[in-house]
Amino acid sequence: MALLNILQYPDPRLRIKAAPVTNIDEVRRYIDDMYETMYHAQGLGLAATQVNIHQRFFVMDLSEKRDQPVSVFNPEILSQEGVQDDFHGCLSVGAGISDKVKRAAKLRLRGIDLEGKTFEWDLEGLAAICIQHEVDHLNGILFIDHLSKLKQERIRKKIEKFQRQA
Ligand code: NI
Repeated sequence: MALLNILQYPDPRLRIKAAPVTNIDEVRRYIDDMYETMYHAQGLGLAATQVNIHQRFFVMDLSEKRDQPVSVFNPEILSQEGVQDDFHGCLSVGAGISDKVKRAAKLRLRGIDLEGKTFEWDLEGLAAICIQHEVDHLNGILFIDHLSKLKQERIRKKIEKFQRQA
């Protein structure tokens, strides 16, 4: 297994809209490396886009012990309801930056699992937030895009300063 390089904002490759996975057998080989990369970076989830693979899948693990990884191919949010407002960070937006983002409170997700089976899950709370965040990545959207222009500008400056020092 190997750690993958996580693209960092403002890398333009984070803006590429990922294509549907047509052959799970072809992308399955990336999954173990994505799990390892996600755990190493202490993230809750990691979208393929973030490791420069522009196909629609992501991995996540919301368990406390970090021992229940899941992977979802061709995720589709079928419906959503309610609002929750919680703090977000992202492995592609560095320098410890996080801010509140409004998200749907509940959603119904359709996806395909590692075995190629289609499933539907009803999710809420942190799981619903994480799914919306990862699906955004696959569409080239970052959590900071949901913030006010003023906040985005502040974050951009903070990151530029951080990158100059690095
Ligand atoms: Ni992210």
